[in-house]
Amino acid sequence: MIQGHLIVLEGIDGSGTSTQAGMLKQAFTLRGLPAHVTAEPSAGPVGCMIRQILAGRLVVRGSRGVLPPDWKTMSLLFAADRQDHLASEIEPNLMDGVSVICDRYLYSSVVYQSVSAGRADARDWITQINYFVRKPDLVLYLNVDPQEARRRRQERDFQVEIFDDPEFQEQLVKKYHSLSSMFPDINIVTVDAGRSVAEVAEACWHHVEKMRNHRTPV
Ligand code: TYD
Repeated sequence: MIQGHLIVLEGIDGSGTSTQAGMLKQAFTLRGLPAHVTAEPSAGPVGCMIRQILAGRLVVRGSRGVLPPDWKTMSLLFAADRQDHLASEIEPNLMDGVSVICDRYLYSSVVYQSVSAGRADARDWITQINYFVRKPDLVLYLNVDPQEARRRRQERDFQVEIFDDPEFQEQLVKKYHSLSSMFPDINIVTVDAGRSVAEVAEACWHHVEKMRNHRTPV
């Protein structure tokens, strides 16, 4: 059986990763190609715990008061969720010949948790604890202006999440821009996501086709 491809969507909050994951799935289906959409944090047990933290429902009562878990705990939780997600959902689909479209992956950990950490050595450690994570065939980075992303979030979200801070989002953009130099062996492409949903979807599909023509699945 020919394995499927692992395609990852990345970007700041409001960049449209979830919308484009759905659009990509449609593009696969339209061409009679099997694909499965999933996301991180996943729907598994660790992923559910992370979602409670993101929504502010799960906190740490420490010496500095009641706070969300720090970036080290978050990194470990996201890494544990990723291993569980790979074992229970991603790998089985790929083995069945189904391509997997994943809304966020390792690169969200590297970007979000190292910006939260605010220290230079965080990135190496985060990469290390994700050492055994499967390499994706393609990473689509949806590049959008942070102010436009904020406007989209305000239209969409009823609930404010812990990363919903304009300055933090600006720093994320800077970090996302250095992703290709951090991971030179990974096929990362930047897509201009400031355009309409249909235009961005077309650009994403173009890169998927290019990857499919170059990479024969294992
Ligand atoms: P979610 O509500 O799913 O946001 P979105 O729909 O924009 O993806 O929450 C995911 C949040 O978790 C998002 O702010 C990014 C963050 N995140 C990390 O900080 N590290 C990670 O490893 C992952 C996968 C997500």
